[in-house]
Amino acid sequence: MLTENQYFRRSITDGVTVYCGCRRGTNGSLGFRPSAWPPVSLETQRRQQPINGSTVKSVSGVKAHIFHTKILPLVWSDNPPCETLLRKYPNRIFKETIIFLQPIIGYGVARVLDSSHQNFTKGDLIWGLINWEEYSLIKDTSSLVKIQHTNVPLSYYTGILGMPGMTAYVGFYEICSPKKGDTVFVSAASGAVGQLVGQFAKLFGCYVVGSAGSKEKVDLLKNKFGFDEAFNYKEEQDLNVALKRYFPNGIDIYFENVGGKMLEEVLRNMRPHGRIAVCGMISQYNLDQSEGTRNLFLLVARSIRMEGFLVFHHYHKYPKFLEMVLPLIHEGKIAYVEDTVEGLENAPAALIGLYKGTNVGKQVVTIAHE
Ligand SMILES: NC(=O)c1ccc[n+]([C@@H]2O[C@H](COP(=O)([O-])OP(=O)(O)OC[C@H]3O[C@@H](n4cnc5c(N)ncnc54)[C@H](OP(=O)(O)O)[C@@H]3O)[C@@H](O)[C@H]2O)c1
Repeated sequence: MLTENQYFRRSITDGVTVYCGCRRGTNGSLGFRPSAWPPVSLETQRRQQPINGSTVKSVSGVKAHIFHTKILPLVWSDNPPCETLLRKYPNRIFKETIIFLQPIIGYGVARVLDSSHQNFTKGDLIWGLINWEEYSLIKDTSSLVKIQHTNVPLSYYTGILGMPGMTAYVGFYEICSPKKGDTVFVSAASGAVGQLVGQFAKLFGCYVVGSAGSKEKVDLLKNKFGFDEAFNYKEEQDLNVALKRYFPNGIDIYFENVGGKMLEEVLRNMRPHGRIAVCGMISQYNLDQSEGTRNLFLLVARSIRMEGFLVFHHYHKYPKFLEMVLPLIHEGKIAYVEDTVEGLENAPAALIGLYKGTNVGKQVVTIAHE
């Protein structure tokens, strides 16, 4: 019978586990040492044999066989950004996402193999925060949600029916306070969150424009997700000119995913009483020193509301969200695009791809098929 601690050691020595900024040392199971941060600071190891669920002592948690996992944009790979992030944003969420010398944590879908927790039983499907490894012993079950609706691809619970879907829902309907006819701009619009925000806004009766980093993504926004317009921000000499082209009368709602120069230029194009939902600032995450933002005084001059939010504070609205979004999926009123890679060993490259923009749609890593 393995103890919990032995399980962890075993998962280090035998498991397929992705480590953040760790290198294999020379002294066995505890030999992962932060000797130097590798240039691409993620490594994987393949477990020789799966841990037999029945031999692992369940302490108080849930043991789960993970067959889908996703890459969470808030998970980091490079150093110094990884360290910097923890220093810069020392809050619970980031700390728990990247813990030095431990597997990266991300959102995934899993099948419960065994459980001593009253809320979960063997065979349950769950989504929530799980480790990047093939088998996990989960002690903190607070993020886990039991999957009730299985007539959709299960990977959707890493995206449209999971955390990113909730983010788009809360961000658009609550933080943006939309009105029919509003002009809406979405950055990183082809990403997991952006593609949904744009479609929610269209269904609501808004005029919607998105920006993305390639022609393929721009085509997707216009032809698959039904955005009114879209442009490749990497090809624009002047973002202010580009925004004026699509919003001659200004922007009512900006759904902010990127920060940096884009935010500065959007501020110049906001209409009085506009709303900016600050969902994320991906252009800033890997910088040692985040850039300053000009034009902030326009928030005052034009009575603009700019509000950040964290989806984790809104999870109690999940049933209401499902009630709205499941029919939209089944009736084909909402499209959703995933970019899937197979195998945990391909997860690090896929994660790094997020920061290069190589993913088209929600990045998903399939770990096992049932
Ligand atoms: N507030 C919350 O609770 C919450 C929850 C989830 C996500 N978020 C945030 O929401 C944002 C979108 O997340 P997501 O899951 O939709 O993203 P995603 O699917 O992971 O897509 C990320 C996209 O961001 C774009 N990007 C990367 N680096 C960029 C840069 N330097 N400048 C501009 N664009 C860049 C790339 O697309 P292009 O090729 O188009 O550049 C990339 O494909 C992120 O900032 C994330 O941190 C916040």
